[in-house]
Amino acid sequence: MSQLKIGFIGVGAIARDRHIPSFSHTEGVELTAVQDVNEERAYKVASDFEIPHVVKEYTELFTMVDAVTISTPNKFHSEIAAAALDAGVHVLCEKPMAMSTAECEAMIEAADRNNRHLSIGYHYRYTPEAKVAKELMENGEIGAPFVTRVQAMRRRKVPGWGVFTNKDLQGGGSLIDFGCHLLDLALWLLDDPKPVEVIGKTYNRLSKTPGLVNDWGSIDPETFNVDDHVTSYITFENGLSMQFECSWAANIKEDHTTLSISGVDGGMDVYPLELYQAKYGTLQDTKVRLPEEELSPELAQAKNFVDCCLGKAEPVVTAEQALNVSQLMEAIYQSSETGSSIQLASVGVED
Ligand SMILES: NC(=O)c1ccc[n+]([C@@H]2O[C@H](COP(=O)([O-])OP(=O)(O)OC[C@H]3O[C@@H](n4cnc5c(N)ncnc54)[C@H](O)[C@@H]3O)[C@@H](O)[C@H]2O)c1
Repeated sequence: MSQLKIGFIGVGAIARDRHIPSFSHTEGVELTAVQDVNEERAYKVASDFEIPHVVKEYTELFTMVDAVTISTPNKFHSEIAAAALDAGVHVLCEKPMAMSTAECEAMIEAADRNNRHLSIGYHYRYTPEAKVAKELMENGEIGAPFVTRVQAMRRRKVPGWGVFTNKDLQGGGSLIDFGCHLLDLALWLLDDPKPVEVIGKTYNRLSKTPGLVNDWGSIDPETFNVDDHVTSYITFENGLSMQFECSWAANIKEDHTTLSISGVDGGMDVYPLELYQAKYGTLQDTKVRLPEEELSPELAQAKNFVDCCLGKAEPVVTAEQALNVSQLMEAIYQSSETGSSIQLASVGVED
């Protein structure tokens, strides 16, 4: 194959602003076709990026391309991905992988039975902080991790475009949309530990705030039926635990992202990247210098996808890892709905 032909399914904000520009700057790729239920948008995007084909149904794409990106509302990820994989087409699907564990499993089964590549758009992993943090964890710089604190906090940034506040089409709100990135990153840095028990609490308070001023567009309180704030406590095998919180619209001073890991020999903050190592009976702080990256996270994601499709690289984000993120999110939602903790596996060895 001289050029990997790519098609784009769902060409709203993320396809237009990230995937199409990234693949247009990636070697060995031919931007071939677009499809969107909003045909006018599909034609506009095709014209703006000089993409030769616009098709009405996504199935029409599959005879024209080797790979697709899927950037539709979450409800359609699984169905479209499985159809593409069954047609022999590689898939880069936006995060979250799908709305439920069962939908994610169907995608993985389709990838396996067709021997096609499936990856998910957890692009935080390609940031310099994440890459160096992963190396530090693998080098054992903080020893075995035992406590992790994760906060993905926005003050007044509910996505006001698209269908982000519609539970039927997205499956959830701040957790499935934004918290998922930090959950994914934390699980990756911790080397994919097996969760044992999950306690979750979700809130939908924002819709009750009259006249709320939102920095990312207007929202309709009448139809806003997803979580805007979520807290969780998760325990994993080997005694590891995680305190998790995310929000689109917290009543806090400012936006912030925290991923902080305590290990037996030290600790680490990822944003900004800093190490705290136990030496001489105290903790020594080191600000970690980040390397100049050749590629932005978006371009690195596109390149890794293309290389995987061509059999030249291993995936940075595997579908199985993305399934683990979805399984945890599902447990958080279930715990909140039922008011009880969710047991995910037989209890491992406690420290
Ligand atoms: N990686 C990230 O940081 C990131 C950021 C934003 C969005 N996303 C994800 O990308 C996806 C899309 O988000 P967005 O911000 O681009 O939303 P958007 O609303 O701007 O775009 C979605 C597009 O999908 C189209 N669409 C709807 N149903 C479709 C269907 N059945 N078949 C084909 N097209 C369909 C819509 O017409 C629209 O053009 C979501 O899954 C979201 O979670 C990821």
